[in-house]
Amino acid sequence: MQAIKVTDKIYWVGAIDWNVRDFHGYSTNKGTTYNAFLILDKKTALIDTVKKEFYPEMLSRIKSVIDPQKIDLIISNHAELDHSGSLKSAIADIKPEHVYASTLGAANLKAHLGQDLPVEIIPNGGSLDLGEDSLTFIESRMLHWPDSMICLLKKANILFCNDIFGMHYASSYRFDDEVSERDWLYEAKKYYANIILPYSKIVTAFLGQVTKLGIKPSVICPDHGPIWRKDPQKIVNLYAEFAAQKNRNKVIVIYDTMWGSTEKMACSVTDGLISAGVEVKQMSLHATHRSDAATELLDAAGLIIGTPVLNQEIYPSLGDLITYFKGLKKQNLIGAAFGSYGWSDGAINGLETIMKEKLGVEIAAPCVKSRFVPTEEKLKECFELGRAVGLKVSEKNK
Ligand code: FEO
Repeated sequence: MQAIKVTDKIYWVGAIDWNVRDFHGYSTNKGTTYNAFLILDKKTALIDTVKKEFYPEMLSRIKSVIDPQKIDLIISNHAELDHSGSLKSAIADIKPEHVYASTLGAANLKAHLGQDLPVEIIPNGGSLDLGEDSLTFIESRMLHWPDSMICLLKKANILFCNDIFGMHYASSYRFDDEVSERDWLYEAKKYYANIILPYSKIVTAFLGQVTKLGIKPSVICPDHGPIWRKDPQKIVNLYAEFAAQKNRNKVIVIYDTMWGSTEKMACSVTDGLISAGVEVKQMSLHATHRSDAATELLDAAGLIIGTPVLNQEIYPSLGDLITYFKGLKKQNLIGAAFGSYGWSDGAINGLETIMKEKLGVEIAAPCVKSRFVPTEEKLKECFELGRAVGLKVSEKNK
């Protein structure tokens, strides 16, 4: 397999995972790539590796450029196994002079791959002379693991940023100018919403630090998805926007349904929202994966959740969603709860409390509860619930 030239001295030697559809709970409908990069200089460096089962693909791409044993250094920017799963095999085959990681990276790599892993620590702010150019290392803790690190190839002004600025998007193309924004924008949002969103404050601080250091790369090489060479600032600006959590005039209505009653209520809630002039996304968890719901949550100002009551509890799919959303720590939401029940309505009140206490939602209208099939009167209450949330969202977003 062939390496792809990024510049005269840098090659993409990663792997394309066309078929992965579940990435620790995140639905990767378009697959992904594990990007690894080869820097040819007096010292040859390999930046990151790939998921274990893709090691032969990476090795074959390296061999299309150089004899792997000519690699002097391996840099591991992040210990998660999609980037370090091949590290042990690579060390065994390449026999590099040095393997470097951040302080926490070295510890995490050893915890994953064995305490005897020959990895050395590169300090935050440290640099490595490659001959004509040099690499400078900056820790990017909690973006998205404690061990995460980025490195800048100084003279070339090329940033290797590991997980940040990436997306899960398998393609035969390697560069941003080869894929249309229409294709990648949703995947970039989905990646941020599902992986980076909980660390938004850290993103803002990190982007500030990068600006303060005067770093404005001419090319950004993330470890997933396209390499940003046409307009690298575009993804940086998008991250600044995502991290600021400036919500749009948009409300998402998420629900599940057993026999259709909660769905009928959801439709009336949506009608009420539309009458208030806000954008609405109505999503049944029968048809929507939690990670796509999270993508819609990213720029939403409102969250309305509907549940049927099952065995005196909220519906299990909603329990899954709430646990997931709680971890994403989305800020500044306005919303409400609704649901249908047979003989015990306590779980719907409980849903409202959970939304308030666990998801930090400001409740704009008391929950609406329908015994079995909603009457016209009940559907009107649902309409009014939607309208109240919509009006409050519009007022806040003025
Ligand atoms: Fe945190 Fe792409 O691994």
